[in-house]
Amino acid sequence: MQTQSNNSPIGIFDSGVGGLSIAKCITEQLPSENLLYVADAKFAPYGDQSLETIISRVNNIAHWFITRQCKAIVVACNTATVNAIDQLRAQLTIPIIGVEPAIKPAVQYSTINKVGVLVTSATANNPRFLSLVNAHKNNAEIFVQPCPGLVNMIETGQQNSQECFQLLTQLLSPLLAKGIDHLVLGCTHYPFVSDQIKKIVGENVTLVETAQPVTDELMRQLKAHKILNTSNSQGQYLFYSSQPCRQHDQFISAFWRTQLHFNTL
Ligand code: DGL
Repeated sequence: MQTQSNNSPIGIFDSGVGGLSIAKCITEQLPSENLLYVADAKFAPYGDQSLETIISRVNNIAHWFITRQCKAIVVACNTATVNAIDQLRAQLTIPIIGVEPAIKPAVQYSTINKVGVLVTSATANNPRFLSLVNAHKNNAEIFVQPCPGLVNMIETGQQNSQECFQLLTQLLSPLLAKGIDHLVLGCTHYPFVSDQIKKIVGENVTLVETAQPVTDELMRQLKAHKILNTSNSQGQYLFYSSQPCRQHDQFISAFWRTQLHFNTL
């Protein structure tokens, strides 16, 4: 029997630290909500995993959230959303909010109708993602760039390294050659290298992220289901990882500017 209440936590997960870019936005705008964050580090990067593995991991983590009485789940991972959210929604009755590359707003804002999209390999090849591109491209040209290796750099704390900058330069140069004016960050890890990306693409290319629309959608669904936490107290945040990882503790503590720790699942 499900025993969720307004005070029940929201489960949020990603293959690693990427989903923290969304979790942070949620804590800023819904400060009373309790959060359980899972980084599935043992299976990261999802972008290099098979469809079967991604589905199995998503189901595993979602069912763990259900055992912890979560009232809603945020799939804070584009790769997991495009590959596994439909079948997850078919199994569960609580609100499940996903994240998809923000092609639609990028096309709307582009004045020259040229948009680049950075994604993982498992997103780039996914039929749901390709339909999203087709549904929203209108008259724009959309240039999809898979970024193998980039999530690993961020997961291993190398986002500020020269190697990461070189990899980004290599990945972005075909998009710059096409003359894009908007660049969609289609993986929740990529906001953690947005400063480096901005240095490479310059001021004429606008980056488009998804933390805000995901938070808005979560808020909308919590209200619609009458499960918004309306207390005045600060929510509690607990972080879990499927594999112990010292780098994750350093990453999250620096990001949240306070000493935080990932518990092992
Ligand atoms: N942060 C994820 C995404 O948005 C997962 C990246 C990965 O594990 O490859 O796609």
